[in-house]
Amino acid sequence: MTALNAELLDLPELDFASADYAARPFQTLAGWAQRWKIARSRRGVEILDYDLCRRAILDRRLGTGHPKLMDVLGLPEGRPLEYKRNSISFFNRGDRRRDLRRPMTRLMSEGGIEAFRADIIATVRRVVDAVPTDQPVDLITALCDPIPSAIYCYWIGAPFEDADFVARTSHSVQQVHTRNPDHTPEIIAAFEALIDYADKHIAARREHLGDDLLSDMIRAEQDGQLDGDDLRNWVIKLAEANTDNSSHQIALAIIELASRPKVWARLHDDPALVPQAVREVMRFHPRTISTSREVLEEHQIAGVTLPKGTPVFANIGATHWDERYYAAPAAFDIDRTDEPPHMNFGGGVFSCIGRFAVTAEVEEVIRLLSARHPALKVDEARFAHSPMFSLVTRLTARLSP
Ligand code: HEM
Repeated sequence: MTALNAELLDLPELDFASADYAARPFQTLAGWAQRWKIARSRRGVEILDYDLCRRAILDRRLGTGHPKLMDVLGLPEGRPLEYKRNSISFFNRGDRRRDLRRPMTRLMSEGGIEAFRADIIATVRRVVDAVPTDQPVDLITALCDPIPSAIYCYWIGAPFEDADFVARTSHSVQQVHTRNPDHTPEIIAAFEALIDYADKHIAARREHLGDDLLSDMIRAEQDGQLDGDDLRNWVIKLAEANTDNSSHQIALAIIELASRPKVWARLHDDPALVPQAVREVMRFHPRTISTSREVLEEHQIAGVTLPKGTPVFANIGATHWDERYYAAPAAFDIDRTDEPPHMNFGGGVFSCIGRFAVTAEVEEVIRLLSARHPALKVDEARFAHSPMFSLVTRLTARLSP
């Protein structure tokens, strides 16, 4: 529970543990947004309106919530905390953040990722080729986890067989967002393993530079754009942020698209519709439900004074289902036009570095599955929704029933 002052305690309280939120998370968030633009919860102040969220995400008076998150988890002194302190997540607006992000935003820009698209397609094919088509399959372990982790292996020149390790450690380190110290030992162990793994692969790659992402990152280091510690921290950061988020979003896309036979048939007939279908999935069922900030400088939002240090959460999930911004938001409609962009990847100087990469991954998965498996049948799909994320906890399907 975060300590809030009297004015903030007067705000309406949102209960993310309520039965309503568990049963209908987006309708519940949108209902709260109809009543209030700003509220509070156990974790801090909650912003519920699209325009206010957008402004908060970009506002220079709001910074990273990561240092406080490490305090909440009680991360002890040691290599994982040292890594966190020196990685992009701990830096606020300013020169250091800009210098750290610049080489990576260039390498992972839309154009940078297009250069890798053929390799993304090849990796997706390799994983999908190994999935049995005539029986029910657990698609999380057979497809959703292996694709982003195999792509990470490809980025750093690691063997495909390491994908399982990459997936497991990413799932573990992402437990930081539970804000639950019970997960701290698992998080520390996973970071320790990732740090050793990154060191090993960077050393190997330095010997033989190639045309993969890690080689380009080493070249950026050689050009003086990054130092050796920054390089290592980025290799760990990409593993940390990649598989867990991407795997859930791939699963969400398969479920939302393949469970709608008319939409699936349209994608089969016209693959050019895939990008807009993926955009609609990211609006309708985004992996990101909220993104966190901390007040750097006292200011007001919607007439409420936010003292320095207050944790603030931009509720992207609420904004995506707000009828003031999206017509009939509960309708899944891949033909939406002229509506505001989704905020699944946050924005501004904290925006997701991997957004073009993961969007291309999800597109290629959907393109291949809808082309090859027009009758794909989702047998069972289960979700969980934390205040932070959408999670797919079960996905079984038959590719060609
Ligand atoms: C569907 C999958 C993903 C989602 C939904 C997602 C979402 C996000 C969000 C919401 C943020 C915070 C933005 C903000 O607060 O304004 C973020 C940050 C970040 N993401 Fe992603 N992400 C995904 C996949 C990836 C991948 C594949 C990578 C890298 C390969 C990645 C790397 C990062 C990094 C490095 C940051 C921190 C950026 C910074 O602090 O400057 N993400 N992501």
